[in-house]
Amino acid sequence: KAILVLHGPNLNLLGSREPEVYGNTTLDEINAGLIAFAAENGGKLSCMQSNSEATLIDRIHQARSDGTEFIVINPAAFTHTSVALRDALAAVAIPFIEIHLSNVHAREAFRRESFFSDLAVGVICGLGATGYEYAVQYALNYKN
Ligand code: DQA
Repeated sequence: KAILVLHGPNLNLLGSREPEVYGNTTLDEINAGLIAFAAENGGKLSCMQSNSEATLIDRIHQARSDGTEFIVINPAAFTHTSVALRDALAAVAIPFIEIHLSNVHAREAFRRESFFSDLAVGVICGLGATGYEYAVQYALNYKN
């Protein structure tokens, strides 16, 4: 199973960014854990973070021809703003999980709106870095 994990803007700062909201785990630590977990379970996982909407969209387009079977995406602030990123996921038609470290429903009202949730196979939020492990576990077992 080939899984692509995409991280949106500001997630490169995990570990130091508002740790009371997003935890102390760095993005490198999250990615290393997921790569190892996927490998142990016969999967192949690649990770990418970008602060740029265009770069994320280009990576999603590339997923159409590189064998990606499932996407786990934390669109970060683009969750609440990006029709373009939503359209990219709809265009490639690769199943995906939307994930957030924080519980977006327990925060500012604008974080309750998502351009992704209705297209996603499922949504995980509020479970911190552990949520990514659950998402990858689900992806590994997903029957395309
Ligand atoms: C986030 C929640 C978003 O509202 C926020 O803009 C982020 C991170 C999360 O993982 O909790 O950057 O996606």
